[in-house]
Amino acid sequence: MQPIRKCVFPVAGMGTRFLPATKASPKEMLPIVDKPLIQYAVEEAVAAGCTELVFITGRNKRCIEDHFDKAYELETELAYRNQNKLLDFVQDILPPNVTCLYIRQPSALGLGHAVLCSRAAIGKENFAVVLADDLIDAQPGALSQMMEVYYRTGCNVLGVENIDPQETGAYGIVEITREDTDDYIQNIIEKPHPDDAPSHLGVVGRYILSARVFDFLTNLPRGAEGEIQLTDAIARLLTEQKMVAYAFSGTRYDCGDKLGYLEATVAYGLKHPLVGEDFRKLLQQMVC
Ligand code: G1P
Repeated sequence: MQPIRKCVFPVAGMGTRFLPATKASPKEMLPIVDKPLIQYAVEEAVAAGCTELVFITGRNKRCIEDHFDKAYELETELAYRNQNKLLDFVQDILPPNVTCLYIRQPSALGLGHAVLCSRAAIGKENFAVVLADDLIDAQPGALSQMMEVYYRTGCNVLGVENIDPQETGAYGIVEITREDTDDYIQNIIEKPHPDDAPSHLGVVGRYILSARVFDFLTNLPRGAEGEIQLTDAIARLLTEQKMVAYAFSGTRYDCGDKLGYLEATVAYGLKHPLVGEDFRKLLQQMVC
């Protein structure tokens, strides 16, 4: 079985739901307590065995490159002040065997187009895609759980979850049939109206895909919301290859949405080793 070494992080979206916070910096840099969303996503991919990280960036995304780069001035200053714990936080963001590649998406034409921009970096290898605004709190991580399915079945794997039936218009929706222990996708539709949705099982920002998907992404017509949709290429891939819908165990927070972002902040704040206990007391005082 071909190992999955490469993970694509599409980070070129405009983050309109968080304006003005995202006017000059990307939504993937929004922090949940003390780490930006993109760092949680990267840690999940690295824990799942990925060693080549491919970021598809756009305008205003330089700070993502800076975040994963060495910060000479800051590190020198922290070392000078003997702030070794903080120095560890800054230096240990990525293990030494992991490399990062940044590719500029010339215009924001949609998720499918962003993934297509990674083609040269991925080549013919099977690869993962992680959307950082779907923050998943899971142990082991959601992508690690999906890797187990990939290595066991040899199939493409999509992370899915039961979603609110009224919200099918925000997700790729799959129709499945069960074979032995796994759910195989029969059909996938991008953002259907609730009346047209084949199920309430939504794709949530985690994909393990064959490189064949690039052939389908090329020359793909614009789909839902006038964008080049990854889901539409996956639907075509489905005519040739099997695909498992994997309902990971864990909690997903939709951090592309204000309320989901606040929920994640509270959940991660409550379990934070340094501030968790005090934060709980504070919340209790605030809501009583
Ligand atoms: C994208 C995908 C959609 C998927 C969703 C998960 O939509 O196009 O299929 O269900 O991510 O978060 P977006 O949220 O970028 O509109």
